Amino acid sequence: MAQAQIPPDCVIVIFGGNGDLARRKLLPALYHLAAEGMMPNNYRIIGNSRSQFSDEQFDEFARESIEEFSRCDVDQELWPIFADRLTYVSHKFQPGDTETLKEAISKAEKELGGEPRRLFYLSVPPPAFATITGAIGDAGLNERATVVYEKPFGLDVESFRELNEVVQEVLDESQVYRIDHFLGKEAVQNILALRFANGMFEPVWNRAHIDHVLIDVPEEMGIGTRAGFYEDTGALRDMLVTHLLQVMSFVAMEPPYALEPTALADEIAKVFESIAPVPSEDVVRGQYEGYLQEEGVAEGSDTETFVAARLHVDNWRWAGVPFFMRTGKKMKRKYQAVTLAFKEPPRQMFREDQSVWFEHDHLTFHLGPNEGVSVTFLAKKPGPAIELGPARMDFRYERSYDSPLIEAYERLLHDALLCDRTLFTRGDGVERTWEVFEKVLRDPPPLHVYPQGSWGPKEAEELIAPRRWHVTKLDRPEDGELPT
Ligand code: BG6
Repeated sequence: MAQAQIPPDCVIVIFGGNGDLARRKLLPALYHLAAEGMMPNNYRIIGNSRSQFSDEQFDEFARESIEEFSRCDVDQELWPIFADRLTYVSHKFQPGDTETLKEAISKAEKELGGEPRRLFYLSVPPPAFATITGAIGDAGLNERATVVYEKPFGLDVESFRELNEVVQEVLDESQVYRIDHFLGKEAVQNILALRFANGMFEPVWNRAHIDHVLIDVPEEMGIGTRAGFYEDTGALRDMLVTHLLQVMSFVAMEPPYALEPTALADEIAKVFESIAPVPSEDVVRGQYEGYLQEEGVAEGSDTETFVAARLHVDNWRWAGVPFFMRTGKKMKRKYQAVTLAFKEPPRQMFREDQSVWFEHDHLTFHLGPNEGVSVTFLAKKPGPAIELGPARMDFRYERSYDSPLIEAYERLLHDALLCDRTLFTRGDGVERTWEVFEKVLRDPPPLHVYPQGSWGPKEAEELIAPRRWHVTKLDRPEDGELPT
């Protein structure tokens, strides 16, 4: 692995410090960065929320979260050093009431000496973003600051604009880091590497050769303890308008002139500009059986836990090529993949009955688990006659490289500490993604209930018909047979 840069000294404040994301991702990621020697030489981590939580409880919380979710074990030598840098401040940080947290930040800064940077991580539900941003400005903490906003940034186009206005009043755009952790996934960045570093793929990466594109992220887990967040967002906002569209932009974009923030964000913005506004008929919403009984879910809730959509990118490269998206909770299998389905060639030289069942050859990016790329195609079966059979070629990171993959949050936290915005989303692009789904958000299509452990409502199969969702094996014994 290339030598990682050491970020400048920093005080990190995690709003929502004892929440689900801090526990599952942020604290394990920070710990792992520390273990890899990728944290600043001097740093402090301050957890914050309104609830009463002591320093000791935060230490315990962090330790348990690292034990459960980190890729490395808690190291007896490193842990006390890391824990020594953790503090917790219980305080409702809001305009006009900023002193308690501000004092804690000043104290940490004095301990570090000099003028350390400030990294504020807003790991809170979207309605709290504006209040916290206002308070950062009110307290004069916006100097030397990087502010990371969890997604979704806004809940529709109006709330995006309102929030963005508050943010622009307090911060320069260069300080705003709207995170979408899918862009931190190695396999997503590999889409750019594969497309633009090879001569083989780009010539066929267009409407002349591609029949359709699938961006498919079914999940096995439910909403867990996140009803408070999920009831306001649902699958459309939580996954589709955010993660899936960002991934789509990497598939659909034109080559940027450089892999640097402006060039990349310009190309992403062009993709989003080219997406035709999605009508409600092109969206299927579902809710898993039993969702209404989950703790914290409102009676008769209309929140969708599944969404599938058909999108069109109206530009020269993609006109006429549908992009199908699907994601949902409590589905049959966790699977994260981008698949390009190639157009069927004329196969009349082969016996008809051999080819009808095989519709497309596919190029699939597995975003996790088992990150890699696979190609499924037809080959001649061994034997005296020309008989066709499905075949596949696989690239797997773990088999091809010795160094382990960097987890998405680790990569993006490290980038934010280094003030590198390349893999963070820009306001104009995000605004456009909300515009694309404005009609659907205003007039949502009906909700279909689907059984837990299924592939979602049958209407999602109808949306894509006569094509089909393509789920390939991941080469794990537990995957068993999957439909192709
Ligand atoms: C989060 C969503 O951003 O991404 C979750 O809020 C989802 O609902 C998660 O489960 C999926 O990310 P990953 O990369 O951890 O599978």
